[in-house]
Amino acid sequence: MSAWHPRLFTHWYAVARADELGTRPLAVTLLDTHVALARTRSGTLIALEDRCPHRHAPLSAGCVEGERLACPYHGWSFNADGRVCRIPGLPADNALPGVRVRHFAACELDGFIWLRPGDSGAAQPHAMIRATDPQTRRFLWRTRWSANVVDAMENFLDPLHTHFVHAGLVRRDAARVQAVAHFRSNEEGFSVDYRCMPAQSGLLYRLFESKRTAERAHVATPGSARLEYVYANGSRVLIDLHFTPRTQEQTDVSIALHVEGRWAPAWAVRLLAWPFLKRVNAQDMAILALQAGNKRRFGERRGASTPLDIVRGTLEHFWTQGELPPAAARDISMML
Ligand code: FES
Ligand SMILES: [Fe+2]
Repeated sequence: MSAWHPRLFTHWYAVARADELGTRPLAVTLLDTHVALARTRSGTLIALEDRCPHRHAPLSAGCVEGERLACPYHGWSFNADGRVCRIPGLPADNALPGVRVRHFAACELDGFIWLRPGDSGAAQPHAMIRATDPQTRRFLWRTRWSANVVDAMENFLDPLHTHFVHAGLVRRDAARVQAVAHFRSNEEGFSVDYRCMPAQSGLLYRLFESKRTAERAHVATPGSARLEYVYANGSRVLIDLHFTPRTQEQTDVSIALHVEGRWAPAWAVRLLAWPFLKRVNAQDMAILALQAGNKRRFGERRGASTPLDIVRGTLEHFWTQGELPPAAARDISMML
């Protein structure tokens, strides 16, 4: 029994780094669905339920044979549609049984492999990622958070924890300024525009950034969240996090950093930004693990919220009802 809303299975999720996927299969889990993922020599993606229909060995422990994925136990092999194409030892005049493994739609976009865990649904991933220019990508990473997907996405999108969890690095509690956040829903999700924020009080801003003309957060359902920074010098930085729930308590996070209109070779971005990104990630992972541990200790309960908790309601609605709440737009004043 899946605790996930059936509509969630009609969407696409980032499940692996494209450069990690070769002919050696990967075992991936999303929405408690276990999938064997592989790439054939000709480049076709194979995504099959990770259970051989013969004696239930995991196909992810098998290997690619030409255009097929072969089971490690008795060597049955399956094509990308999940049809069994070869059973070693079966004489040629014996018909192959009409056995199929469940197969999933998969594609590659902006450095990640995307998968749709349901048999039907959206023909391709959301427009935000389809419109992203992979040429501007400088950095790619995947990590795993011990957190429910709503808690994980809220953490990334919430500016008000940064003064505490990332004190000094992102913002400082003692250096708050008046700001207005404009929330607006759209067809794929929503955006939050932060107004009156030319600068940020932490070390990261002083080291790597210049005067900002816009700061926005975008969410494209199901799990993509983007922070967009536009600078007075015409450049733009995008930090994309694609959240893929493995289970109710674990979420995989695929991270890509894009830089437009600025001298920023990939090696330099990696060298300069990597230690800070790692630090920020470790701080978030630690607080999320504490939060998850306490939710286990006390049982799941609804938290108290204020208008500052801009994204929580929308995220909760989407991940429990499988669709966005009615369209909304509002301004929220805050001290950031
Ligand atoms: S278990 Fe897969 S071929 Fe036997
Ligand atoms: Fe954070």
